[in-house]
Amino acid sequence: MSVHAEIKRISVPQLMARKGQEKIAALTAYTAPFARLLDPILDMILIGDSTAMVGYGLPDTLSISADQLAAHAAAVVRSTSHACIIVDMPFGSYQESPQQAFANAARMLAASGADGVKLEGGAVMADTTRFLVDRGIPVLAHVGLMPQYVNTMGGFKAQGMTDESAEVILRDAVAHEQAGAFGVVLEGIAEGLGRRITEALAIPTIGIGATPACDGQILVTEDILGLSGDRIPKFARQFADVGAVIRTAVEQYASDVRSGAFPAPENCFGVKQQL
Ligand code: KIV
Repeated sequence: MSVHAEIKRISVPQLMARKGQEKIAALTAYTAPFARLLDPILDMILIGDSTAMVGYGLPDTLSISADQLAAHAAAVVRSTSHACIIVDMPFGSYQESPQQAFANAARMLAASGADGVKLEGGAVMADTTRFLVDRGIPVLAHVGLMPQYVNTMGGFKAQGMTDESAEVILRDAVAHEQAGAFGVVLEGIAEGLGRRITEALAIPTIGIGATPACDGQILVTEDILGLSGDRIPKFARQFADVGAVIRTAVEQYASDVRSGAFPAPENCFGVKQQL
């Protein structure tokens, strides 16, 4: 039996069964150290294409590749055994056709061992969701503020603020549910709309700047730890200032290196310990 077969993660059907029972707590992770820390506590970890902005310092999410995200996802999968692991399909890897989406999703899952994929897009992407789900790939849909549409939206702006646009987003979410999505991420939408969609769907909604009524919440980990500089979105809350802890430790390290206090004899090889 392979090592992988022994791991008992939270499965996609188990996440779906949380609807109306228990809230889903999710965060992003891109690397092994973060994944190890997050895994025992969370229900779901997303290797988001936010990696592009948070991990690579890019201005938007558009230029990260499927191979880059698959490599990050593989690191996260290797370092976890509890949470359900979902990987984002990056811009350009799925919009062309359901066949293109399947080929890239299958490649990313094979390379990483992740449990499913997330893709952005409204009702226009529902056929792609259906194509993937029918072929064994669990899909988490992402509607509302979709960062891959930054150029058509004219920035990262909250969506669904008019009655008409709210109806479109509701229809988008319903279309993905009908296409077999196991859940829907609702990002950056009016609170009342998030509540309405959550009540309308039989699958879990995962909110990020949506509503506390969602069946779960997700945020970018760096945003809640004080590691995102001054770029914290309105919908995030900083739960700790890990940046300050890192700064203090690095200052101490640099000072000890400069003074000669580090390395000490116990950090050196072949040095007899003084009694
Ligand atoms: O890329 C990402 O991190 C996301 C979120 C839902 C946080 O899509």
